Amino acid sequence: MSPNHDSPIQTTPLDPAQAADLQQRAIAVAHHAYAPYSNFRVGAAVLLVDGNVISGCNVENASYRLTVCAEQAAIAAAVSLHGPKIRIRAIAVANLNNTASQPCGACRQTIHEFSTPDTIVFFPAEGGTIAQATIADLLPAAFLLTNS
Ligand code: THU
Repeated sequence: MSPNHDSPIQTTPLDPAQAADLQQRAIAVAHHAYAPYSNFRVGAAVLLVDGNVISGCNVENASYRLTVCAEQAAIAAAVSLHGPKIRIRAIAVANLNNTASQPCGACRQTIHEFSTPDTIVFFPAEGGTIAQATIADLLPAAFLLTNS
């Protein structure tokens, strides 16, 4: 199932000024990316339900599979700074490569872990536009550990 970007998302929309601020922060932190292998520089800015904003960038490694995505770096930083009860109101993902790019599957699962029914994900779409989707749209069948 692919996200439907044509219909309005069924969640509480984010204030446009907040969305613009989140986008700017994602672009800003992408300049810190360590991406000598792919040259794909990514930034993510997370707005928590309590109003805090935390950002992170991708950090690659010569052993490629050790690479940390920007979304995961931002969320790990958010938990480190604000504790395990954080909830994500919105996350903006940006790259400096002028490329449409959706969050990878692993990042969707990571966002889902700290999401609410209102969590919105912003990501670069075709023609320099910004798409938005709920995490439920992006990951309709998240893995859940139900027997713990
Ligand atoms: N990357 C992210 O940071 N987030 C994603 O959702 C997709 C991919 C990074 C990982 C790697 O450093 C580079 O983009 C190319 O895959």
